[in-house]
Amino acid sequence: MPNRLRYDASAALPFIQPAALRGLKPSLEAARAETVADVADLRQKRKIPEDKLPLDAGFIELPTELLAGGANKLLSRIEASAKRLREQIDILVSLGIGGSYMGLRAIFEAVCHPYHNDLTRSERGGVPRLYFEGDNVDNDSVHGLLQLLAAHCKNPKELTERWGICVISKSGGTLETAAAFRIFRNALDAYYGAGSELARNLVVPITGEVGKLRDVSNAAKYPDVFPIPDGVGGRFSVLTAVGLYPAAVLGVDIEAMLRGAADMTEQFRSAPQGENPVLDYVAVCHLLERDRGLKNRVLSTWGKRLEAVGLWYDQLLAESLGKHERGAFPLTVVNTRDLHSRGQQHQEGAKDKLITNLIVEKPATPPVALPKTADDHDKLNMYAGKTIPQILAAATAGTNQAYAEAGRPTASLILPGLDAYALGQLFQFFMLATVVEGRLIGINPYGQPGVEAYKKKTVANLGG
Ligand code: PA5
Repeated sequence: MPNRLRYDASAALPFIQPAALRGLKPSLEAARAETVADVADLRQKRKIPEDKLPLDAGFIELPTELLAGGANKLLSRIEASAKRLREQIDILVSLGIGGSYMGLRAIFEAVCHPYHNDLTRSERGGVPRLYFEGDNVDNDSVHGLLQLLAAHCKNPKELTERWGICVISKSGGTLETAAAFRIFRNALDAYYGAGSELARNLVVPITGEVGKLRDVSNAAKYPDVFPIPDGVGGRFSVLTAVGLYPAAVLGVDIEAMLRGAADMTEQFRSAPQGENPVLDYVAVCHLLERDRGLKNRVLSTWGKRLEAVGLWYDQLLAESLGKHERGAFPLTVVNTRDLHSRGQQHQEGAKDKLITNLIVEKPATPPVALPKTADDHDKLNMYAGKTIPQILAAATAGTNQAYAEAGRPTASLILPGLDAYALGQLFQFFMLATVVEGRLIGINPYGQPGVEAYKKKTVANLGG
């Protein structure tokens, strides 16, 4: 099948007892059945037992539902509004944090041009630049973006000098996002005129059905406000309007992304162990943690475009399973860059890591070859003609050979290419795997009660 994600655990299996793998089968099947049953419970609005709350399994069937025109033709409404916004602005400022930020950043870095913001509008395909704020509390960063907007946008009548805001918060009350929205909305009003049509039309909120951001949106009468459905948790929301809307503004093929996710769900539901990337990945990660103490999960991404996907996954795994003093420790590395910083530790440090490679087999662009030079002072002529992908493949294979020789297990997630379809599969793969592992080890993967502690203290420190 074209561009399907594969999981290859052949370099990890020698570290696992075959009997342990066989023994895990019934509980893994039970975890799959529970994950699937959760969706039915949610859909049929059955009473959810107290100990299963929150139950945010809505992400599992959502891609299929949206592709079928669900939630009131949401996909068409997103596409129409995204087209309107993209044709009206040249800079999109996206405000959000955590699950309301990481997924979009992952999409942006994975499938948009690596120098997107430096290209002219026509080189960008007529879509706006994208900047993030509200993802931190950083004065210099906020000030820097306000300065950039002021310097580039002087005449609101010129398309190339117009900017807009997409503000994303499920709860609608997250301090970082709310504060950023107030600041950037203020700047937007100052630029277009408070109460003007442009100041209203160029803000698109994405939020839950109730909350402060919903109230602000209703009061301001923004023409398009997109929902984040109940039953889909923040870090599981990348394939709701949270990721889909701004991605559509950037011209990303969001239907293909949803198709990738829907195909992954189908494979997860129906394929047996051994042919089911989600179940096979969970089995390997779980057994190596349980039986060999490999509690550090290194996602070794081979390529710069995957770094933010890795950071999104770090959040997903950490917030979902980091509970009751348990849960594996996620770490994303980008190779070959991090071979020059973390490689030493991974080769010779404590044997407490499982390294899962994330490999894209074919670059999206034509391979760049090493040229031959007349002087050859750098002695690279012997490699002349070799391409960047060939050098990367040699480094990937070499690194994994070196780990194997040092008795360190690795496994690989392989994508034939990196496009919207592949990315949709990857998102859904990681979300399903995280939920299945949670069910397997008896930890509710949904909710993040521990995050509340810092929020309360912060608000108290501000006198709130
Ligand atoms: O996974 C989660 O629910 C969190 O990481 C949230 O996404 C994050 O705290 C932002 O919340 P909100 O979208 O409500 O502003």
